[in-house]
Amino acid sequence: MSDTTIQQEVSKRRTFAIISHPDAGKTTLTEKLLMYAGAIHIAGSVKARKSTRHATSDWMEIEKQRGISVASSVMQMVYRDCVINLLDTPGHQDFSEDTYRVLTAVDAALMVIDAANGVEAQTLRLLAVCRARNTPILTFINKMDREVRDPLTLLDEIEQTLGMTATPFTWPIGMGNRFHGVFDLQNDCMRVFQPGEDRAKDDDEIISDLNDPDIVTRFGASLTDAQQEIELIKGASPEFDETAFLAGQQTPVFFGSAINNFGVREILDALVDLAPPPKSRQALQREIKPNEKKFSGVVFKIQANMNPAHRDRIAFVRICSGQFKRGMNIKVVRSGKDIRNNSVVSFLSQRRELLEVGYPGDIIGIPNHGTLQLGDTLTEGETLQFTGLPFFAPEIFQTVELADPLRSKQLKLGLTQLGEEGAIQVFRPHIGNTLLLGAVGVLQFEVVAHRLEHEYGVAARIAPAKYQVARWVTADNPRELQRFIETNAHRIAYDAVGAPTFLASYGAELSVTEENWPLIKFHKLREHAGLVFQTHMDG
Ligand code: G4P
Repeated sequence: MSDTTIQQEVSKRRTFAIISHPDAGKTTLTEKLLMYAGAIHIAGSVKARKSTRHATSDWMEIEKQRGISVASSVMQMVYRDCVINLLDTPGHQDFSEDTYRVLTAVDAALMVIDAANGVEAQTLRLLAVCRARNTPILTFINKMDREVRDPLTLLDEIEQTLGMTATPFTWPIGMGNRFHGVFDLQNDCMRVFQPGEDRAKDDDEIISDLNDPDIVTRFGASLTDAQQEIELIKGASPEFDETAFLAGQQTPVFFGSAINNFGVREILDALVDLAPPPKSRQALQREIKPNEKKFSGVVFKIQANMNPAHRDRIAFVRICSGQFKRGMNIKVVRSGKDIRNNSVVSFLSQRRELLEVGYPGDIIGIPNHGTLQLGDTLTEGETLQFTGLPFFAPEIFQTVELADPLRSKQLKLGLTQLGEEGAIQVFRPHIGNTLLLGAVGVLQFEVVAHRLEHEYGVAARIAPAKYQVARWVTADNPRELQRFIETNAHRIAYDAVGAPTFLASYGAELSVTEENWPLIKFHKLREHAGLVFQTHMDG
């Protein structure tokens, strides 16, 4: 494999996540993107998947019942000679930790906004994560076929609330019943809207001369209003600035209607033309360039029961450098173990297919039974540890007790596995036996209780615990740490990798302890099993 081939493959890759507030149209848009790129042929299959997910995975019943998207998945498609990897993210805020980890694996994000609702709470949260990583963001304003907010107001809202400049690439002509299409500001032409979800992909009517009297009569006031708005934004909006976009400071904006498959092509084109290919990634030891010869990758997600018949767990690995080849020797740096990878899969339009080769930006799935953990770095032998995949200190705690003491082995196994997936954090107290579960969102507990029962046959009693604050603790002097642990024994628990954690019932208790123990460091984030603490993000 020559360097040029790897470089060529890298420049063809686009890896992005779709983020939105629930119901903005993420699922619909995903489906249309896949359809447009030819990855699926039947409209509705992502939707079908959404509503019949329980067939794929039992615990996703919850998702179905609550009408929320809990899990995230990966899809790959080819468009205009580019390989596009699309990562779906859970829309519900209680799963934001999972979303955060998914966002560490992408090079760009597509933000879907419901034009009637504007910027919503979850969009803001997700955006904050993207901004922290300077992820470039494309914006799709959806549902223009409805009576929605005035587009100028929407643009203003994006700029004000999300703190970045917005540069429209298309502009809507009318809305609701009078939605006639979009004006393509780059190519100075109008793309005429036609409702209907299963239109062929290239049959949009294009109009170049908007001053043609027939056209003016045809679209009436919607057209003249849009023209005035376009004049306004041409004067007021900044030109597209690639550097600002790549730094996450400016977002190109597109209008459309996902359900009508309208405006979708512009998004795909923007991904190819504007979104960046994979970049270098930071490991503790050094920076790794994507076009390096040797393979490296990082596990950013673990998902169980994608196929209940196999009861397997898939580790989602983002390839960071080199070429992945089926059968090659891969080392898990944390454990030093080699893994056999003959069953590695790729995610072509949601089907799992055996993968022969993969390149930086691609997401590969490695079925395993606990060999791989979140945050693991995989290499061809070099000792590397990619950074930037944190665990957040839980904000809600519950205790877990067995209804049937004879099932304690199953409970332990279940909690270990769920902990390794990042579905929940499990803490073992320094004193006593009652396990503690920690989460960022309360729905995580529901998922865990449901999965314990259905996958491990364990009826567990989950009850609120008295804690509200947790901090991982470290010290330069191990003896000082030991002294802290012994003195505060009733407030110490160990997480899944044995990292000591201080628990407090409220914030003031933590502040007092911090004051009393100046040599102890209290951390809100923990990175991977290597116990690397990202102090610059701590607070
Ligand atoms: P999500 O994944 O972001 O949660 O949103 P999803 O795609 O499931 O879409 C949420 C709702 O918005 C769906 O309606 C969907 O049909 C609708 N929708 C998506 N895009 C558009 C659009 O461009 N225009 C209009 N008018 N509606 C759109 P639902 O009633 O919740 O589901 P369904 O009964 O239609 O399946």
